[in-house]
Amino acid sequence: MTTPYIPTGDYTLLDSGGERKLEQIGDYRLLRQAPQAVWNTRMTAAEWNAADAVYERDSTGGGDWQFGQKTTRKMEILYANLHFQIKLTDFGHLGLFPEQAQNWEWMRRLIRDRLQRTNGRNIHVLNLFAYTGGSTLACSQAGAHLVHVDAAKGVVDWAKENALLSRLHERPIRWLVDDALKFVKREARRENLYQGIILDPPSFGRGPKGEVFKIENDLMPLLEACKEILAPDALFFLLSCHTPGFTPTTLRNEVLDVVDGRGGRIEEGEMLIPEQSGRMLPSGTYARWHAEK
Ligand SMILES: C[S@@+](CC[C@H](N)C(=O)[O-])C[C@H]1O[C@@H](n2cnc3c(N)ncnc32)[C@H](O)[C@@H]1O
Repeated sequence: MTTPYIPTGDYTLLDSGGERKLEQIGDYRLLRQAPQAVWNTRMTAAEWNAADAVYERDSTGGGDWQFGQKTTRKMEILYANLHFQIKLTDFGHLGLFPEQAQNWEWMRRLIRDRLQRTNGRNIHVLNLFAYTGGSTLACSQAGAHLVHVDAAKGVVDWAKENALLSRLHERPIRWLVDDALKFVKREARRENLYQGIILDPPSFGRGPKGEVFKIENDLMPLLEACKEILAPDALFFLLSCHTPGFTPTTLRNEVLDVVDGRGGRIEEGEMLIPEQSGRMLPSGTYARWHAEK
């Protein structure tokens, strides 16, 4: 059995429960909603009340931060060997999904191992719905060539800031603002192939020209298109999401369709954030395939 990777750095999940989570990020203690945390908290009410910023959702689906003494919305942190710009956005997001750290380490290991065995033959990785670039940067750090695709220019710029902070800005990374499906179809027409593909689709999203992405309708066609650009010497395929109903087995079956006939190994599970007490906070699901060698 491989040793589990425990990410270190300036992010810690302090406690969870009562459908909320208490996180330490840099100098900030944040309180955010976590509907999946349907158990009791372990820390005292006084410790929870000491949060520096609290994010509350309103009935319209929006929300806002309430600040105590500290009021900056931006900070830099080190986490899982990467350097991130954190922003307390109006949506309650921070620009970091710490639950992805296990996947980052899994990809880093696979890439380094393949590069070593092939004397550095290029590995091309496509990251779709790439957000602020955690997976892009982890793969780049390990030595792969990256194509980073997201529909929102603002988050692509944010990912570039993270690359600069992580000193990876001079590595081969193409930063693209594009619709995931349109881009993959274009790559298939151009016969551009990838050794690694990463997808972290939202439940609902929009491409740069308003193209609607609804996971229940649009994930299957996207996976079909990805199948066409997965190289014969592919190394890995990673699918993750935070959509209720998309269980590890659901994702496994979808990944199986993509890698059918290739051998290798598929594993699936919940993405987990370790809490300082040792408990785990389930935060989404994944299924991932890697080639035998
Ligand atoms: C990181 S993913 C979702 C993360 C997580 N699975 C969740 O559900 O919150 C969200 C990203 O997908 C991007 N996105 C949404 N629709 C897209 C599309 N059609 N093509 C490319 N990127 C898209 C968004 O801009 C956003 O950065």
